Amino acid sequence: MKNTVLTFKQAKENGEKLTMLTAYDYSTAKLIDEAGINSILVGDSLGNVILGYEDTLSVTMEDMIHHGAAVARGAKNALVVIDMPFMSYQTSVYDAVVNAGRLMKEGRGDAVKLEGGMEVCPQIKAITACGIPVVAHIGLTPQSINAFGGFKVQGKSAEAARQLIEDAKAVADAGAFAIVLEGIPSVVAAKITKTVPVPTIGIGAGSECDGQVLVYQDMLGMFSDYVPKFVKQFANVGDIMKKAFADYIKEVADKSFPGKENEYGIDPDVSDELDRLY
Ligand code: KIV
Repeated sequence: MKNTVLTFKQAKENGEKLTMLTAYDYSTAKLIDEAGINSILVGDSLGNVILGYEDTLSVTMEDMIHHGAAVARGAKNALVVIDMPFMSYQTSVYDAVVNAGRLMKEGRGDAVKLEGGMEVCPQIKAITACGIPVVAHIGLTPQSINAFGGFKVQGKSAEAARQLIEDAKAVADAGAFAIVLEGIPSVVAAKITKTVPVPTIGIGAGSECDGQVLVYQDMLGMFSDYVPKFVKQFANVGDIMKKAFADYIKEVADKSFPGKENEYGIDPDVSDELDRLY
């Protein structure tokens, strides 16, 4: 069954955990979808894990549309959320609506996600007024790392925690149907989860959130540039891939690949004819 905003609403009401993973391409989206995930996030983390940037700031609308559309083709049942990239919504409410519309029309997402609290509520209101579901994202919002002075856990002081709780209430009031909580103390995430009527999806925010999200390369051990404390590696696919690549290189070099079973045959008469000619 297709997951929708109603699935998210019902999960919160029934106390059932929601699951979300990132994906950036058709094949991976299909695998994650077939595993039974509720939602796939086409995160602007693609800047880090796919494009090799140090942060998410250079990711463009074209990048998000290109990868979003590939994921949407692979996801039958998962709700596909596409990230609004840096400067595609901060500049004005008009830009936010136009760019959210492009992610739906060209990227074929089911929803969009944007970072920020009270300051982006006018954008959330305007986008949702167009019938586009919005996921909010507060806490350690990677598009603001320059303002934070690096990737730093947010909401550690009483005042900062209070601000996060007010931000969560504000984005929910503005119409967000879910809120990603990233890089905040679990106690603060638990308070937000109890306070807001919409589901919270945590990443580095403890177990009390209504759901969890991870970057799939992190949980499969495929990305080693840095591994945050909140990541659990559910498999070490990176090592399996490296071994398979090394085996391929060796077998091509020692001529054991391709084998007879990998070859296409030809009619013996045609082969004889070719032998006579060459
Ligand atoms: O871009 C992303 O992958 C995200 C998750 C970390 C929530 O925003």
